[in-house]
Amino acid sequence: MDYRKLGRTGLKVSELCLGTMTFRWTATEDESIAVLNRAWEAGINFIDTADVYSFWAEGNDGGVAEEIIGQWLQGKPRDEIVIATKVRGRMWNGPNGEGLSRQHIMLAVEHSLRRLQIEAIDLYQVHAPDWDTPLEETLQALDDLVRQGKVRYIGASNFRAWLLMKALWISDKYHYARFDSIQPHYHLLNRAEVEPDLAAACLDQGIGMIPYSPLAGGFLTGKYTREHIPDKARGAGNQRMQRYMTDQGFAVLDTLEKMGAARGKSTLQMALGWLQTLPFVTAPIIGANRVEQLEDSLGAIGLRLSEEEMQQLDTVTGMERNWSQR
Ligand SMILES: NC(=O)c1ccc[n+]([C@@H]2O[C@H](COP(=O)([O-])OP(=O)(O)OC[C@H]3O[C@@H](n4cnc5c(N)ncnc54)[C@H](OP(=O)(O)O)[C@@H]3O)[C@@H](O)[C@H]2O)c1
Repeated sequence: MDYRKLGRTGLKVSELCLGTMTFRWTATEDESIAVLNRAWEAGINFIDTADVYSFWAEGNDGGVAEEIIGQWLQGKPRDEIVIATKVRGRMWNGPNGEGLSRQHIMLAVEHSLRRLQIEAIDLYQVHAPDWDTPLEETLQALDDLVRQGKVRYIGASNFRAWLLMKALWISDKYHYARFDSIQPHYHLLNRAEVEPDLAAACLDQGIGMIPYSPLAGGFLTGKYTREHIPDKARGAGNQRMQRYMTDQGFAVLDTLEKMGAARGKSTLQMALGWLQTLPFVTAPIIGANRVEQLEDSLGAIGLRLSEEEMQQLDTVTGMERNWSQR
């Protein structure tokens, strides 16, 4: 396992980050614990969660994934594990039950610390912009948490390049802690959201990128075909995943499969390998419902694509890697 610095910080994280959005949603609690155990055994030291995971699952209130991680951490070497969580989503009733106000953040962080059973959050991320709260207020609250020792590093998620730059400017101006990481929705079928601007901003400002949904919710595993959508998979009856099931989406799968066959790698591993080869990516956040799914992703550890393979993927996705010509 390669351990990479998160952006310009000295924090070392594994080249794959384990996502936990499926915990007690499409994975049972036992399956979630088994996935955590296997990831840890394989050298993954970086775990991504959020206070809202997974409130959308029947019978869940949110906070469940943090609770599972908190229980799993008991008896583990806490000092060797990097826990990243998020704040922003609705967690309780009333006008202050969501958002990035000082009020919400100061309460939400205490709940996350309690559920995770830890004294400090290693990476505290804002889950998405809150257009009702001035960014200055959010960053000042986060800076206070860093100074209090409740949070070690801060990051953003779902921020466009301009908003990330605005946040860095505010942090610089007021000497607040700055965002050191960004978590965008990024994979081979969603390149235009990140390239070129966010990619160039990360390279220029030393921000670590930790892309989420690196397999397009499971589409880039290759288990979806033109003729068949697997019954129990996320894409079954999921409108949002229909957008990948296009001629171009299947052409990308064909290319990944062919390139993978030539080097004994699966379609999924090639999709992760593409991300791991990009110079601004620190670690894709992988998701797995069961250990067998995780095993496939673990086969991407150390995988880097050749320039020729990268060019073939540029051609089939209709994109150029022009972020370096900023
Ligand atoms: N910041 C944000 O707004 C945000 C948003 C979304 C996610 N995230 C983070 O990113 C993490 C990963 O997101 P994601 O779950 O969407 O990632 P993903 O890698 O795109 O999709 C993971 C899904 O693919 C399927 N899969 C994985 N390995 C497989 C295999 N070997 N064979 C067959 N199917 C396989 C599984 O779903 P099925 O079995 O159902 O097909 C699995 O749940 C989350 O856990 C969360 O931590 C963050």
